[in-house]
Amino acid sequence: MFFGMITTVMRILVASHNGHKIKEIKEYFKHLDIEIISLRDIDFDFEIEETGITFLDNALIKAKTIQSFYPNHAILADDSGFSVKALGNEPGVNSARFLGSGTVDALKNKEILKLLEGVIDRKAMFTCAMVLLTPSQQFVTQQVVYGSVSQEIRGTGSFGYDPIFIPEHTTKTFAEDLEYKAKVSHRSKALMEVLKYVEYLAE
Ligand code: IMP
Repeated sequence: MFFGMITTVMRILVASHNGHKIKEIKEYFKHLDIEIISLRDIDFDFEIEETGITFLDNALIKAKTIQSFYPNHAILADDSGFSVKALGNEPGVNSARFLGSGTVDALKNKEILKLLEGVIDRKAMFTCAMVLLTPSQQFVTQQVVYGSVSQEIRGTGSFGYDPIFIPEHTTKTFAEDLEYKAKVSHRSKALMEVLKYVEYLAE
């Protein structure tokens, strides 16, 4: 699909295999006439190395790599992560690889809680850099959600660091309140910006 040409169904290829992420993105676009397809849907299993030093570098690497294979598609890529102030903003861009890629989320979360034992400053944030590439346009946004690290792991049915992150102005972790997460998360805010841009192009 190309923006600028109004087609009956817009299609966006999401440069991710992460089922949770894709579910969040699909949920976001579900009221619109936009079809979201993922790398899973097209059996794309080429490993993309995230060699950038910022979230934006990595989002662009993912988007441009996929674009080299599918130059006529609109491609949406994000790179996101969890940064803990008292840990020098780690794991940050290394969120997926923290303690080694393949380490289960529960162990990563336990380790962060351990590292923060006795630490007063529990400030943390999620960041999401998101890129929408079309054959002729590049749109970039970076959004954050601030909060703190909980004292214990709370909530199920989510992923990553959600069970230890309490966003500002609430007491529940993201994993305990997915409805709230959908409203205020780093990815939701980035998607909102992408959506505004898509609407602008399609008008
Ligand atoms: P990536 O953007 O897929 O590279 O995400 C890197 C890592 O950040 C993921 O594997 C998760 O551990 C973490 N992460 C990113 N977004 C979220 C989120 O919304 N909730 C919890 N963890 C997240």
